[in-house]
Amino acid sequence: MTIHAYSSATDAARSLVGRILQVVDGFPAQRTVGIALSGGSTPALLFRLWAEESGGRTPWERIRLFWVDERCVPPTDPESNYGMTKKNLLDKIPIPETNVLRIKGEDDPEEEALRYALQAEALLDEEEGCPKFDIVLLGIGEDGHTASIFPGQEHLLTDRRTYAVGIHPASGRKRITLTGRPLLRAGHLFFLAAGETKKQALAALHGLSDSVPAAYVAHHARHDVEVFADRNAAPLLPEADRGPLP
Ligand code: 6PG
Repeated sequence: MTIHAYSSATDAARSLVGRILQVVDGFPAQRTVGIALSGGSTPALLFRLWAEESGGRTPWERIRLFWVDERCVPPTDPESNYGMTKKNLLDKIPIPETNVLRIKGEDDPEEEALRYALQAEALLDEEEGCPKFDIVLLGIGEDGHTASIFPGQEHLLTDRRTYAVGIHPASGRKRITLTGRPLLRAGHLFFLAAGETKKQALAALHGLSDSVPAAYVAHHARHDVEVFADRNAAPLLPEADRGPLP
C-alpha cells in the first residue's frame, strides 16, 4: 500500500485525479476503462476538480462509470450518491449517457443488487469469478467502513454475490454495495480521505489486523492500493510507506 499525503484536501483530490488519468492513459487507446465511484461527501471535491480542471483532457468516450455503492433512495434525494456525482461531475462533462451505469436506488434493493451485478459482470473483464473494475475509488468512514460494508456486516467481505444489500448502522437505511470479493480484485484501489476524523480509521489500514472492513480490503487486495490523504487524516500513517508526491 502506498500513501500519498498532502497539505490540503484539495491537493490530495487533485493528485488523485492525475493518478486516475495516468491509469486510464496506460490502457490501449481502444480499451474501455471501468471505474467504480464511491459517494459520501469526500469525493465531491475530487469530482468538481476533475470536471473543472481535467474534464477536457479526459477520454470520456472510453470511460464507463459504475458506483461502488448507493443509498436506497431516488436519484433526486439529497442522500443519493448518483445525485451528488451528477451535480459535481456528470452535469459538467461530455460523457456518453450509455457510459454512466447508475444503481437504481429507488428500486427494490435485493432485485437491483442482482440486476446491477449482472450488468457489471456483463460489461467488465473477469478475475477469479468476479467482475474486474480497473479503478475503484473508495472513501473510509470514521468507523472504518468502506463502500457500504460496515463493522458488524463483515459477511459482505466474503459474500459470493457481486453486489449485496448493507444497512447503515445508525440510520438503519439500506444501501446497495459492491462486496469484498470484487473489491479485492480491482486493478487499482484508491482511498481518498481528508480531515482529522479519519486518522484513526486510516491508521487501521496500517495495522496488522483486519480490524475494520477498510483494513481487510487494504490488506487482502490483489493489486494496487494507494491512499490519498490530507495531512489531517494522515498523521498516524508511517512516513516510510509514503510514495513520491505525484
Ligand atoms: C457512501 C460511501 C461511503 C463513504 C464513507 C466516507 O455511500 O457514503 O460510499 O463508503 O466513502 O462513508 O464518507 P464521507 O466522504 O462522507 O466521509
